[in-house]
Amino acid sequence: MKNLFLIVLLFLPFFYMVYGFYYQDLIDPIKYFYTISGYTALILLFATTSISLIKSKINLMKYRKIVGLSSFFYSLVHLINFIILDMELDLMFALEETFDKPFIYLGMIGFILLLFMAITSTKRLFKKFVKYHKVIYIALALTTIHFVMAQKALTIALWGFIILIGIIGGLKIKYYTSLN
Ligand code: HEM
Repeated sequence: MKNLFLIVLLFLPFFYMVYGFYYQDLIDPIKYFYTISGYTALILLFATTSISLIKSKINLMKYRKIVGLSSFFYSLVHLINFIILDMELDLMFALEETFDKPFIYLGMIGFILLLFMAITSTKRLFKKFVKYHKVIYIALALTTIHFVMAQKALTIALWGFIILIGIIGGLKIKYYTSLN
């Protein structure tokens, strides 16, 4: 029952995105998809890495995998938006854009790392590849830089978001240095 509730909760941004597409008068649907899928993917990626931080107070470790996979799902929606709607399925142009714009190739590398973790998240493969799952921190750093570089102007709300990301990142580093 708890799992079902969590799955519905994790799918809410997706339902909202589809609902908005059909029922709202969107001026720029491509930007709309980028924003909802991008922010949700990034927030869920931070949530995944933060679960171990609060383990001693609330143990949510058994939900970490589903939260991580949901982040991958939204990243995939983000990529599909890029290839199908933004690049209009012109794969050569998509490749050129990727290599031309540093913020796009940083996002792409982040996505490849998330793909690797999603593929190796099955019980059997996870045992074999668990030590490589630390690349989540590289993915997190790259996608955060990607997000900041994608902004045309940094508003107060965005600064708030960036500061929050910095605090969680700092707490993670503190947590790991206290373990060693
Ligand atoms: C798969 C490779 C990726 C591509 C091709 C890509 C492409 C883009 C593009 C073109 C934008 C700018 C949208 C605009 O303002 O017009 C953007 C923004 C963004 N991306 Fe990505 N991205 C990728 C991966 C990721 C990943 C893995 C994440 C998070 C985990 C992410 C999070 C974001 C966020 C939060 C924004 C800002 C959205 C906004 O301000 O409206 N991206 N991305």
